[in-house]
Amino acid sequence: MAPMIIAIDGPAASGKGTLGKRLAHHYGYRHLDTGVIYRAVAKGLLDEGFDLTDEARAVAVAMELDPESFGHPELKTQRIGDAASVVSAIPSVREALVNFQRQFAADPPGAVLDGRDIGTVICPNADVKIFVVADPQVRARRRTLEALARGEAADEAMVLADILKRDERDKNRAAAPLKAAADAHILDNSNLDIEGGVRAAIAIVEAVR
Ligand code: C5P
Repeated sequence: MAPMIIAIDGPAASGKGTLGKRLAHHYGYRHLDTGVIYRAVAKGLLDEGFDLTDEARAVAVAMELDPESFGHPELKTQRIGDAASVVSAIPSVREALVNFQRQFAADPPGAVLDGRDIGTVICPNADVKIFVVADPQVRARRRTLEALARGEAADEAMVLADILKRDERDKNRAAAPLKAAADAHILDNSNLDIEGGVRAAIAIVEAVR
C-alpha cells in the first residue's frame, strides 16, 4: 500500500486529536497535532511577557520552536488554547509554520495531521480529508471531563462559552479559516464513543484508498 497523507480538521474539542492518534497507530504512520504548534507559540510569547499580537516576536518564536517542547502539559490548558487562537490568526505566524508541517506530512512512511487548515492549506493534495464535527454541548462535556481528570478546575458552561468563542474566531479569521475542504468527508462525532469514531474514520479511509 502506498503511503498516504491523512488530513483531519475540525473545531475545538471535536475529537480530531484522538482520531488522528488512533488512525496513525492503525496505519503505522506518524501523527502531528498541529494545534500544539500554535499553542507552543502562544506559550512562548506569554512566558517571555510579550503581547499575543506582537507580530515580530510571534514570528521569531514560531521560527525557533523546538518540537521537543510539544509534550509540555501546560500546552493543554484552556488559557493556552485561547491564546493560540489569537496568535494563529496572524498570517505571518502561519506562514512561518507551513514548511515544518508540510515536511512532516511528506516524510515516510505516511502521516496523519490534525488541525484547522490541513485539508485546505497545508496539504490540499492529502489522500484523505476528514472534517470532524460534534455538537458544542458534547464537545464541552468531553473537554470538561478531560480537564477534571487532569486535576484542573473546569465549569462546563464556561468551557462551552470558550469553545464557541474560539470556533467563531477560527472560522472568521482571514488567514486559513476553519472550514471543511470541498473534498472532505464529514464525520459527525456527536453520538460516537472513541471506538465508534475510530471505526467511522477507518471506514472513510478504506473507501477512498
Ligand atoms: O486544536 P487545538 O485546540 O489544540 O488548537 C488551538 C488553536 O490553534 C485553535 O483554536 C486554532 O486557533 C489554532 N490552530 C490553527 N490551525 C491549526 C491548528 C490549530 O489555527 N492547524
